[in-house]
Amino acid sequence: FKVPVAVNEPIKSYAPDSPEREEVLKTYKKMYAETIDVPLYINGKEITTKDTATMSPPHDHKHVLGTYHKAKKKHIEEAIATALEARKKWSQMPWEQRAGIFLRAAELIAGPYRAKINAATMLAQSKTIHQAEIDSACELIDFLRFNVQYMTEIYAEQPESTSGAWNRLEYRPLEGFVYAITPFNFTAIAGNLPASAALMGNVVVWKPSDSQVYSAKVILDIFREAGVPDGVINMVMGDPVMITDTVLASPDFSGVHFTGSTHVFKDIWQKIGNNIHNYKTYPRIVGETGGKDFIVAHKSANPQQVATAIARGAFEFQGQKCSAASRCYVSKSIWKEVKTFLQADINSFKIGSPENMNNFITAVIHEGSFDKLAKFIDAAKKDKKAEIIAGGTYDKSVGYFIDPTVIVTEDPKYTTMCTELFGPVVTIYVFDDKKWEETLELVDNTSEYALTGAVISEDRYALETAVKALENAAGNFYINDKPTGAVVGQQPFGGARASGTNDKAGSKLNLYRWISPRMIKETF
Ligand code: ALA
Repeated sequence: FKVPVAVNEPIKSYAPDSPEREEVLKTYKKMYAETIDVPLYINGKEITTKDTATMSPPHDHKHVLGTYHKAKKKHIEEAIATALEARKKWSQMPWEQRAGIFLRAAELIAGPYRAKINAATMLAQSKTIHQAEIDSACELIDFLRFNVQYMTEIYAEQPESTSGAWNRLEYRPLEGFVYAITPFNFTAIAGNLPASAALMGNVVVWKPSDSQVYSAKVILDIFREAGVPDGVINMVMGDPVMITDTVLASPDFSGVHFTGSTHVFKDIWQKIGNNIHNYKTYPRIVGETGGKDFIVAHKSANPQQVATAIARGAFEFQGQKCSAASRCYVSKSIWKEVKTFLQADINSFKIGSPENMNNFITAVIHEGSFDKLAKFIDAAKKDKKAEIIAGGTYDKSVGYFIDPTVIVTEDPKYTTMCTELFGPVVTIYVFDDKKWEETLELVDNTSEYALTGAVISEDRYALETAVKALENAAGNFYINDKPTGAVVGQQPFGGARASGTNDKAGSKLNLYRWISPRMIKETF
C-alpha cells in the first residue's frame, strides 16, 4: 500500500516580472478573448442541446466567455444509466490504477495546466491570482494527492485474525452511483467532490454550480486526460430541481456529496427521505452547507492581531468562503485601537479586476449576490442600531463590486449578526469587558450554524473557557488566528449544526463515506 507521500503543493508567489506571472496573464488574456462552448459530458461523449446559457466574468459582466448546455431529463437518465454501466469495470479496477489516474491529474494541474486552471478561476469566479493559486491549484492538488494516501491507509486497516481463520475487510465502493453537487466558490471543491467518490471506486453524476461551469470544464478535461474512463464522472448542467429530482428518483442512487446552501441540502435530505422505500441501499448524505463564522476577541488580545484577523478573515476571497468571518465580538477596552487598525487595513486594500495583480478584492459572484448584499448594507445605513465604519459603497455598472464593509451594532442579535451574507460584509458587536462568559454564550446561541470560529486572547483562562463554551459552535476552531485557510492534510474541514454533516473534507473521515466494506471470514 505504498504510494508517493503526500506533501502540500507550495504556493507560487507570482512576483512582479516572474515568468509564472507572465504566463498566467497571457493565458488569462487569451481565454478572455476566446469564447468556449461547454457541452454536457456523458459516457465520454460531449452532448449539445438547444437550451443554452451564457457565462460572464463577475468583474466584467457584459463580456461573454461562452455558453454551456442545459440537460433535459432524458440526459440525466442517460448519465445515470451509463455511470452504472461504467461501474462494472471501474469498481473492479485495481486501486493502483485509480490512484495512478488521480495522481496524474494532480501533476497535470501542478505543471502544464496550472496557468489555465488559475486563469479560468480568475475569469469565472473573479478570484485574484493569489486566491486562484491557493484554490484551484494548491488545494485541488492537495485533495487529489492526500486522498490517494488516505485511501491506502484505509485499505490497510484490517481486523485481527486467529489461526485457522482469516478475517479481512474488503473496501468496496457503494452499490449504485454518487451525485456530486459543487459550489461556485471553490474550484478545488468542484474537483474534489466527484474525484474523492470516484477514487474510492464509485461512479458519479456531477452537477457544477452555474457560476462555475467555465472552470469546471477545465477540471473535467484534466480528469479525462489523466485517464478517468468514460462514464465514471459525468458532468451535467441545467435546472437544478429537475436534475436533483431525476437523480433522486433512481433506485440506484447511493449517495450525495454536496457543498452549497443549507436550504438546498435540507430539501435534498427531505426528498431522499420521501424516496427512501425506492432505494436499493441507504444513501450516504454528505454535505457542507452554510456558515456564520465568528471571531471573539478578549480584552487581553493584541488589537493589531484582532484587526488583521477580522480584515483577512472577513474580506479575503471577497468574503465568499464558507469559513469567512462574518460576526465578531470585541471587548470594549481594546475596541478603539482595533477599529483604528481595522480601518487602516481596509484602506490599504485595492479593489478591482483580478487581472490587475495589485488588487486584493474583486467582484462578488453574480447580480443576485450583489443585490442581496447591497440591500443589507442599505438597511444598516438607515438603522439606528447599526453604524457603518468602513465601506458601505457598491457599484455594479461594470462588475459586481462591493467595497469591504464593516457594520458595528449595539444589538448582538442584529440581523447581519445572524444572517449568512456570503460576501465582503462583517458585523461587529462590542461587549463589556466584564461579560466574557455571557459573550461566549451569545456566540454559541446567536447562529444556527457551526462551521468555523476563532478566539483571540493572551490570557490562558479566557482561551480555555472559550474552547469549552464553544465546543459545538464550530467544526473548525482557531485559537489566536483568523477562522479561514484550512489546509488539506493539516486541518480537516467541516462543521455541524446547520453547517453540514461534518464529514471533514481532505481527511480519511470523508473517504469512509464512499465505501461499503464487506467483512470476509475464511476458515481453513
Ligand atoms: N478551506 C477553506 C478555508 O478554510 C474553505 O478557508
